Amino acid sequence: GLTMAERTLVLIKPDGVQRGLVGHIVDRIERKGYTLVALQLRTLDAATAQEHYGEHVGKPFFPNLQKFITSDVVVGMELVADSAIDKWRSFIGPTNTQKAKTDAPESLRALFGTDGTMNAVHGSDSVGSVKRELGFWFDGDSKSKPMKTTAQIGRAHV
Ligand code: RTP
Ligand code: MG
Repeated sequence: GLTMAERTLVLIKPDGVQRGLVGHIVDRIERKGYTLVALQLRTLDAATAQEHYGEHVGKPFFPNLQKFITSDVVVGMELVADSAIDKWRSFIGPTNTQKAKTDAPESLRALFGTDGTMNAVHGSDSVGSVKRELGFWFDGDSKSKPMKTTAQIGRAHV
């Protein structure tokens, strides 16, 4: 399997799903050379949202974040690539949409975010976060075991 590459947990948040961006974002993910290992559509309950964003519980923005992230379905994906975590974080850009538009205009949040809360996508921020977040998304270890990456096979010309 793809044991040498790094894993990350990515979400398409409710605003991204509602606006019909799932196919486009998955396309961008595949074009970036990530291999999809697991994918699931789920509506988070308040407790899972609190667990996922545990480091933010008690902060002033947490109630809005919790309300937003539980407001509709979320797409969760386990992705594999070299430097998957940092590569994805720079691809999505700064948390705040306005800052993303200024500092990283090509980033996903610049293109698809709305404000400081609704920013279309999530990415785990460290190896520890990946492990924790994969724990409640895919029981820590996805059952699917892709053997080859798109980079190894060569992408189809589409
Ligand atoms: P994420 O965890 O979702 O990938 O986002 P992030 O690391 O870039 O930002 P983080 O500080 O972890 O914040 C988590 C999410 O909470 C919402 N937020 N709202 N209004 C605010 O001041 C504020 N700050 C953060 C955003 O949805 C952010 O992505
Ligand atoms: Mg974060």
